[in-house]
Amino acid sequence: MVFKIPFINHKQPEIIPEHSGENTPEHIAIIMDGNGRWAKNKGLLRTAGHKEGLSTLVKIVKAAVNCQVKMLTLYTFSTENWKRPKAEVEFILKLPKQLLDVYLPDLIANNVRINVIGDMHDLPKYTLDAMQYAIDRTAHNTGLELNFALNYGGRDEILKAIKDMYADVKDTKLSMDEVNEQIFSKYLYTAKMPEPDLLIRTGGEKRLSNFLLWQLAYTEFWFTDVLWPEFSEADFLCAIEQYKQRNRRYGGLSN
Ligand code: IPE
Ligand code: IPE
Ligand code: MG
Repeated sequence: MVFKIPFINHKQPEIIPEHSGENTPEHIAIIMDGNGRWAKNKGLLRTAGHKEGLSTLVKIVKAAVNCQVKMLTLYTFSTENWKRPKAEVEFILKLPKQLLDVYLPDLIANNVRINVIGDMHDLPKYTLDAMQYAIDRTAHNTGLELNFALNYGGRDEILKAIKDMYADVKDTKLSMDEVNEQIFSKYLYTAKMPEPDLLIRTGGEKRLSNFLLWQLAYTEFWFTDVLWPEFSEADFLCAIEQYKQRNRRYGGLSN
């Protein structure tokens, strides 16, 4: 499949595995990790790693469009990432604006719809404005749904959901007897989203780091030591191909 409008500065990967559309995961979530280590290995500042990571992000969004993945959710900034030095936090939180200033026309032309999940309260205005503009401009697009997890934490999300649900019970909009998994899910940031089929984590760590704790209950995990700035389209397609070999049983028996 040909990408309709080429992304600017896109580096072509060397080897791209054969890709067929059958059994492609509909929703892929990615923990984009390893930017800092990539920079350190090269004797650069950590921020250089985040900048390079942005190029990878563009490349992988393009790959997801080409593979007709329906939804891509990217862990961009966690509720715990505020612990980092202020300059690094600011640099990361400026990246959405940098990305959208350059690529929003490409994303629109490729029918990508942008969304955000996380606690928007503590985010700087430049991040919020850039995201809101992109959300509004892409609201009617029907292609890839691209979700940025920004100031997102799984525990924070679950607590918020419990509080909102409790408020509805108090207001008699909801009865406690009605509450089940489906109803609870509607109080999460991901209320309108399907659960991820595949979770990719780059950078070698084998943990969730507070990402989508509720939603990943039956997701297939795929880990790689490759650092995010070096993650290629070929790696992405490899994860998808391996996902297709998995037998998802959901606690039942295989067919
Ligand atoms: C992931 O890369 C990006 C964010 C967490 C925002 P890191 O910055 O965590 O890179 P490492 O893990 O230190 O190499
Ligand atoms: C997870 O990476 C958060 C994002 C990729 C945004 P971290 O680098 O923050 O995770 P830990 O600290 O290694 O668990
Ligand atoms: Mg990290």
